[in-house]
Amino acid sequence: MAGVKIFDTTLRDGEQSPGVTLIPEEKLAIAKQLAKMKVNVIEAGFPISSDGDFNAVKMVAENVKGVEVAALARCRKSDIDRAWEAVQHAENPRIHVFIASSPIHLEYKLQMSEDEVLNNAVEAVKYAAQYTDNIEFSAEDASRTGTDFLARLFKAVIDVGAKVINIPDTVGYAVPSEFGQLIKDVKEKTPNIDQAEISVHCHNDLGLAVANSLAAIENGASQVEVSVNGIGERAGNAALEEIVMALYTRQDYYNLDITQDTTQIARLSKLVANSTGITLQANKAIVGANAFAHEAGIHQDGVIKERTTYEIMDAKTIGLDHNKLVLGKHSGRHALKDFLEKYDYELDQESFESFFKRFKDLADKKKNVSNADIIALLDNELYDY
Ligand code: KIV
Ligand code: ZN
Repeated sequence: MAGVKIFDTTLRDGEQSPGVTLIPEEKLAIAKQLAKMKVNVIEAGFPISSDGDFNAVKMVAENVKGVEVAALARCRKSDIDRAWEAVQHAENPRIHVFIASSPIHLEYKLQMSEDEVLNNAVEAVKYAAQYTDNIEFSAEDASRTGTDFLARLFKAVIDVGAKVINIPDTVGYAVPSEFGQLIKDVKEKTPNIDQAEISVHCHNDLGLAVANSLAAIENGASQVEVSVNGIGERAGNAALEEIVMALYTRQDYYNLDITQDTTQIARLSKLVANSTGITLQANKAIVGANAFAHEAGIHQDGVIKERTTYEIMDAKTIGLDHNKLVLGKHSGRHALKDFLEKYDYELDQESFESFFKRFKDLADKKKNVSNADIIALLDNELYDY
């Protein structure tokens, strides 16, 4: 069965989240957990950007095994030298070079023509090839670039040794069917595409990063770039946990081999949230506090009878002990009975009904009914305080 490579950029694009700085030791701890989860590639940083980042990439490259380690560089010799210096001792080092390709970036940011960009990209890949044959090339803002130029650019860099061509939706502008079609068009128009892997890198400005990445996979992308908890520039990147769990949960649809250890997801997510200070919204898919919680009575009843009535994933699959039945104003008798059983309380029918009424009265007034609240109510019922 074919698979998709998971390229994690939490330590590079993820660290570009406004206000986030990770010290090398924090990056190392995250990288070790990423390796434990068996991602395929870790992009550890952008070594030319600071001495701290250089040291972090070096530390990850030298200490994290069983995974490719990538370092980012612009299409400049000094960037490439610095990237290689940092990453060279990895088991399998990768140099990732990028240059913008869209008319808007060429005109306003680079002030370069398409031919100048192409020559620059070719020279950079040739230069990187003196160090390694594991070279990734990214056409920044690819989703706002015409496919004729993209194909010309990709053909040229593949000819001089790029092994992965990355198609970023840098500003999160694409929509899924369009992005899928872009991948298809690039494949059709780039004559030597069989000599390279197609990667995608989607940003979440319209909340579509995961959907776009999945559309790209359906159309031939075999590497997907992600970050833990979806952190990154502006609205962030495609979330690692959402992509992996979508591919895992819907293997029936994607038919892809998942080699990652999904049971490491919860730990990884917590580690990244704690190190970066970027907390998660409660309803965040997969790793939010409510992702495996049920409050409505009908749902709780269903889940108690058979988990799969209202759960498409088992909490254990991402490394949690169990799901949660939250007791609140929407909860029903089944959830309360379940609670009594867990805490070893026995109530006759009459006491139970009276306790249930007291519980509902309290839940109507209080947003969060804690276990301690319920135990107080029970003691009240049993001992008539
Ligand atoms: O979003 C982007 O285009 C990037 C590139 C450097 C790959 O992060
Ligand atoms: Zn990016």
